[in-house]
Amino acid sequence: MSWFNRTQKASLSIDISVSAIKLLELSRTGNGYRVEHFSIISLPHDFAMQKKVSSAILAEGIKKAWEESGSTLKQAVVAVSESAIMTKTISLPASLTDDEIEEELIMTADQYLPYSLDDLYFDYAVQSINKNNPEMVDVLLVASRRENVDNRIEALSLAGLKASIVDVEAYAMRNAFSILPTPSPDINVDKTIALIDIGSTITSLTILYNGDVIYTGSQSVGGKQLTEEIQHHYNISYEKAGLAKKQGGLPDNYDELILYPFQKLLVQKIQRALQAFTSSSTNRSIDRILLAGGCASMTNIDKVVESHLNIPVKVANPFINMSLSQHIDLQAFYQKAPSLMLACGLALRGFDA
Ligand SMILES: Nc1ncnc2c1ncn2[C@@H]1O[C@H](COP(=O)(O)OP(=O)(O)OP(=O)(O)O)[C@@H](O)[C@H]1O
Ligand SMILES: [Mg+2]
Repeated sequence: MSWFNRTQKASLSIDISVSAIKLLELSRTGNGYRVEHFSIISLPHDFAMQKKVSSAILAEGIKKAWEESGSTLKQAVVAVSESAIMTKTISLPASLTDDEIEEELIMTADQYLPYSLDDLYFDYAVQSINKNNPEMVDVLLVASRRENVDNRIEALSLAGLKASIVDVEAYAMRNAFSILPTPSPDINVDKTIALIDIGSTITSLTILYNGDVIYTGSQSVGGKQLTEEIQHHYNISYEKAGLAKKQGGLPDNYDELILYPFQKLLVQKIQRALQAFTSSSTNRSIDRILLAGGCASMTNIDKVVESHLNIPVKVANPFINMSLSQHIDLQAFYQKAPSLMLACGLALRGFDA
C-alpha cells in the first residue's frame, strides 16, 4: 500500500457526436497505457439533421455504449464540441500570477465574448510571450455557453454515469497528439502542426505550435455527405451505402463519379480552414498535417491531401504503442483508431483528475 501513489489507474472517456457515441477505457501500465474497453454506437442518421439532440436520446446511446463496452467505470471525461466553443487570444501583463489572471478575466471576459459571463463557462491557457511586447503574455481564453456543457452532464447522469471532467476538444486532441510516437524528441519544437479530424458531419481543425493549442476552427463536411451521395446515386439504403464505402463492392464508376469529387471537396474545405488560420495569425505556415476522425481511414486520403496541399500528411494512430486487452481484436481496433483520437485524448485527461 502506498499513500504516495494515488494516481488514477484507469480512465473512461465518451466522445459524443450527433452521429455516434464512442466510449474508451484506458489503463496505465508501467510507463504506458493499455486499451481496456471500447465501443462505438451509431446514432440514427436523422439525428444529425437536428440542431439539438435531447439529453434523453443521447443518454440512451451512452447507456448502450457503456453496456456494450464492458467497462465498470462510472465516471467519464467528455468534451464540448469545437462548434460550441468560443476562443479569443488576449494579451495580459507577464507579471500576473495565475490567480490574478483569473481575476482579470472574470472582470473583463465578457468584453471579448458575445455573451454575459453568467451564461458561460470559461477557462484559459497561458501561452507564449507576446511577440511585439515581451512584457505581455498571450492568453487563450476559451468559453462555452453553459447549456452546451450542462447538456452533456445531464446526458451522462441520465445514463447512470457521471461527468468527471468536461474538456475542450482541442485540448483533448493535443493530449492525444502528445503521445504519438515522433521520430525524434525535438521534432515538434518550433513547428506548427495542424490536427484535422474529419468526422461524420464536421471537420475540425486544431493548430498546435510548440505543442500548445493556438487556434481552432471547423468546416461542415464529413463522411455522412459521401454516404448520402452513394445512397442517392445507387438508390440503396443509408446503412448499405455506409458499409459499401468502407468494404467496397460499388460499381466501377464510383471512384470517378462520387469518391474523387468528394475528396476534392474535402481538400477544398481543409484548405479553407487552414486559410482562415493563416489569415488570422502571423502568416505562420503549417509544417505538418495529422489526420484523424473516421474519414482518415479512407484509403490513400493522406496522399490525396498531401499532393493537393504540398504539406507532409500522416494519419494519426495514438494507440500504436499501447497494449490491448485480450478481448479486443487488434485489426478491427486499429481500423477504427483514427476515429478514436478524440476519445483517446479525453481518456488521457482523465488520468490527471
Ligand atoms: N474505412 C472507412 N472509409 C471511409 N469512410 C469511413 C471509414 N471508416 C469510417 N468512415 C466514415 O467516417 C465517418 C465517421 O467518423 P467519426 O467517427 O470520426 O465521426 P463522428 O465523430 O461521429 O462525427 P463528427 O466528429 O463529425 O461529429 C462516417 O461517415 C464513416 O462512414
Ligand atoms: Mg468526431
